[in-house]
Amino acid sequence: MPPISFEGRVAIVTGAGGGIGRTHALEIARRGGAVVVNDLGGDVAGREGSASMAEAVVAEILAAGGRAVASHDSVTTREGAEGIVATALEAFGGVDVLVNNAGNMRNAFLAELSDEDWDSLIATHLTGSFNMTRAVWPHMQARKYGRIVFTSSSSGMFGIAIQGGYAAGKAGAFGLMNVAAIEGEPHGILCNAIMPNAFGRMAIQCMKDWGQEVRGVESMPPVVGNSMDPSYNAPLVAYLASEACTSNRAVYSQCLGRIARVFVGVGEGWQAQRQTPPTVEEIAAHWDEINDLERGYTTPASPHDELALVMQTGEVPAH
Ligand code: NAI
Repeated sequence: MPPISFEGRVAIVTGAGGGIGRTHALEIARRGGAVVVNDLGGDVAGREGSASMAEAVVAEILAAGGRAVASHDSVTTREGAEGIVATALEAFGGVDVLVNNAGNMRNAFLAELSDEDWDSLIATHLTGSFNMTRAVWPHMQARKYGRIVFTSSSSGMFGIAIQGGYAAGKAGAFGLMNVAAIEGEPHGILCNAIMPNAFGRMAIQCMKDWGQEVRGVESMPPVVGNSMDPSYNAPLVAYLASEACTSNRAVYSQCLGRIARVFVGVGEGWQAQRQTPPTVEEIAAHWDEINDLERGYTTPASPHDELALVMQTGEVPAH
């Protein structure tokens, strides 16, 4: 396998002033890519702003002989996203890679989640990913090349209490990735998503909000090793962001060093007759069959794909 290189490529990593995003930026820069290190700065909730976070990562990259520039715009507005892309164009003349990583966390049970917190979570995780994707799109399209990595989450894909807004934003980012991947492929723009894991300030905040004792990573079982370090997520992102990767429209989980594809599947289900809708009683009678996953599943690539797959089954209705 030849080494994966970003020589001649320009990458934007949002939320790269700390945590997981910082490790994405360092990995791409170490492999020759010029990086826009974007970060609003601020606390885990996404409040307050400090330029020093992005500046510190840029200093780290420059000290190692790499190329990087800082950006402090917020992904939550169209103007902010366009400002981040303008920074890439001015500093490095284009953009080949976007890593949508910026995120915040505000936990509360659904009935207690405020409008402000809901709006902030959706604005950062979902609208932020959309703003950034839309802003890089014409530049990638013009080059007929692009790699976009979205950051989803097991909270969004699997569900978890007290993270309604966060999970909705993360599941939304997955839905957005699906469409970007389909629309981008003809233009050489490939899009995928990751579900990362790391022990950082988000994990600490979760422990506090769940009422757990806050303990350090060193208190984890020995089997975890160093695999909760944020840097465990960067190689997967760098691969998905590279020319070597030809996968499109997929989601990958990075969990304690186990990297695996996550998918949405449809079971075999139960087929009603196709001349009149089924009755509610028929649904009840076939509930076990409808829920059964043991007989196998399909993973449709689009709504048309699902229609075509189901069309192959069932009897032709009598006229
Ligand atoms: P973090 O809080 O250390 O990093 C997120 C960064 O995004 C911060 O530096 C923050 O200043 C920046 N940011 C927040 N709002 C922004 C905005 N509007 N514009 C630009 N930058 C903004 O968190 P961590 O753990 O590094 O998370 C990185 C990404 O991975 C996030 O999207 C998070 O939701 C996601 N994630 C993290 C997991 C974990 O286990 N840590 C699990 C699943 C997903």
